[in-house]
Amino acid sequence: MAGRHHTTTPVAALTPEEAADELARLAHEIAAHDARYYQEDAPTVSDADYDALRVRNTAIEARFPELIREDSPSRKVGAAPTGKFAKVRHAVPMLSLQNAFADEEVLEFVERIRRFLRIPEGESLVITAEPKIDGLSCSLRYEGGALAVAATRGDGFEGEDVTANVRTIEDVPKRLKGRGLPDVVEVRGEVYLAHADFAAINARQQAAGKPVFANPRNAAAGSLRQLDPGITASRPLKFFAYAWGDITGGPPEDSQSAMVRWLKGCGFVTNPLMKACDSAEALLAVYRDIESRRATLGYDIDGVVYKVDRIDWQERLGFVSRSPRWAIAHKFPAEKATTVLRDIEIQVGRTGAHTPVAKLEPITVGGVVVQNATLHNADEIARLDVRIGDTVEIQRAGDVIPQVVRVVIEKRPADTRPYEFPILCKCDLKTALVRETTASGEEGVVARCSGEFACPYQTIEHLRHFVSRRAFDVEGLGEKQIAFFFEDEDLPVGAPADIFTLAKRDETNFKKLKDKEGFGSLSVKNLFEAIDARRTIALDRFIYALGIRHVGETTARQLARAYGTWDAFFATAQRIAKGDAEARAEMDAIDQIGDAVVDAVAKYFGESHNERVVEKLVAELDRIVDAEKPQSATPVAGKTVVFTGALEKMTRDEAKAMAERLGAKVAGSVSKKTDFLVAGPGAGSKLTKARDAGVTVLTEDEWFALVGETGT
Ligand code: IVH
Repeated sequence: MAGRHHTTTPVAALTPEEAADELARLAHEIAAHDARYYQEDAPTVSDADYDALRVRNTAIEARFPELIREDSPSRKVGAAPTGKFAKVRHAVPMLSLQNAFADEEVLEFVERIRRFLRIPEGESLVITAEPKIDGLSCSLRYEGGALAVAATRGDGFEGEDVTANVRTIEDVPKRLKGRGLPDVVEVRGEVYLAHADFAAINARQQAAGKPVFANPRNAAAGSLRQLDPGITASRPLKFFAYAWGDITGGPPEDSQSAMVRWLKGCGFVTNPLMKACDSAEALLAVYRDIESRRATLGYDIDGVVYKVDRIDWQERLGFVSRSPRWAIAHKFPAEKATTVLRDIEIQVGRTGAHTPVAKLEPITVGGVVVQNATLHNADEIARLDVRIGDTVEIQRAGDVIPQVVRVVIEKRPADTRPYEFPILCKCDLKTALVRETTASGEEGVVARCSGEFACPYQTIEHLRHFVSRRAFDVEGLGEKQIAFFFEDEDLPVGAPADIFTLAKRDETNFKKLKDKEGFGSLSVKNLFEAIDARRTIALDRFIYALGIRHVGETTARQLARAYGTWDAFFATAQRIAKGDAEARAEMDAIDQIGDAVVDAVAKYFGESHNERVVEKLVAELDRIVDAEKPQSATPVAGKTVVFTGALEKMTRDEAKAMAERLGAKVAGSVSKKTDFLVAGPGAGSKLTKARDAGVTVLTEDEWFALVGETGT
């Protein structure tokens, strides 16, 4: 996966600088994946890997909201090119929903709520179930009963002003019905297109020689975001109201179902299939019922939404990052189709990962034309035994990259041969592809070029990482400049050492850098000085900057501390690369360093190109500063901590990482050795045991107070 080696530091352990750096990199990477997926229809990563990048981005942003970038992928959710509509800040953010796919997840959802609210056995918990409309959500603000502003969801905090267009929607009342209405009422719901209207619009588009829409949702979005409300008016958009935002004096009713009835009374269309249920079984029954009617509803739905009925309970349950704890979307299974696989193409990502992509006979799945599907990796191809010419079943769910699910073996042509995954990189070097070890120490499935700096697919990414803020941090040498020098004919930079020879080369060049676009005498002078200033660098930064897989900042720091000097580290790394078991064992024994790192070090220094790149770089530097001894002066250093209950401000992994970073040991159970028990809501036997044993029990907040860090 692109950038996996950058994402090893737990979110709770990131410093703001690291977080900013990583967010920049993620924005960049995700945008590139989006472009490949949406514009080029040629993804280079699997859904899971893509999702992991987004999840990581969200997690970092949740902890550092002040670092959320203008170009953050989270801001682009559902938002097409913007800039033509005025921005509207939502008084109450528009959130998203957590997804559930399996029945068990629904049972867990109900259980979790019962536990959280401590609802006793016999007491009923009412949860509503309603279709999840596959359209786009909109917030309608009524002031004094009149429609004042209609806004799209946008990034959830800020959307676009589409008031003029929304006024053309028949289902949206221009004035609310009823008396004694609150001054401000924000109504939320879904704008969508019925199947019949979608078909008519596409027929018209086609007749006019214009592009057709892929599905009703895209057509609805395209129609709502028209600059000319006349066009929107010609597209019969519809609206279901199902939620609310800001309401003066709070919601006038005390339950979800009563509020939806109230919205109906105000003049909105609400979904007739909504039901109140008092058990998980009843919810699942509604789910099956709605699923069985899906084809005849006349509009697209992609699941069923469950919401805790009592509003006071919704308030108590609150939110986790950007989704309510009191609601969940139970999605329908993905849509499937069969088609012929024409070819398997290998795409090379910026980390040298070779991803096989199935080139398909184009086919419509769930209203979208699909011609590429990811095959993930060589193992997946072998598992499916998918061969060129095979008929394959593909599936797509929502907006994710289509997948090949299985081969329709009965339709296999007589002359097929098993697919042979390449063993050499597509790059000019034809370097061997290697499978890296995963973080958990198993052999990985991703085939990567071992060329690192020498592989053109990877060079630019490596250089970008090399100069990034937590690495060499050269002022005035960011991604843009790296891209410039990478391409420049007069002052090419193809390896880190080239950065340090820029000034010397510029001196002897006929065409000077200062005369080039984007540069001037002063900026060139500053740049060269900034580069010179980095000829002395701390060992941990240096190791991190090399861009060895799995060697993120934390690992680099550990390696630096363990070896102390560059010479010691380099000598060991070279021995490991040559297969020296003793050197391997020595590195393996370092706290928190496992096979994944040791293998990555072996592969990195085992490639002669890399070795040369590193040696040339070292020759350009003045000094690599030896590492300091670890600091152990934190209030929890050397203490043993146990976490229990539902932590609300950090995940269990984050909590653990944070404690370890502060020098504490984290244990799974309470014993005599335990110093602190950090207990969240719902803590059970561990809490009792800790109290009995006289262990200091802390709430999450008290823990943060103790270690002097803030939670979210
Ligand atoms: S409730 C706080 N109800 O799903 C939760 N959302 O993944 C507010 N959606 O952005 C949303 N049908 O566009 C809710 N019956 C329904 C829905 C629904 C569709 C969409 C909505 C939202 C997304 C969340």
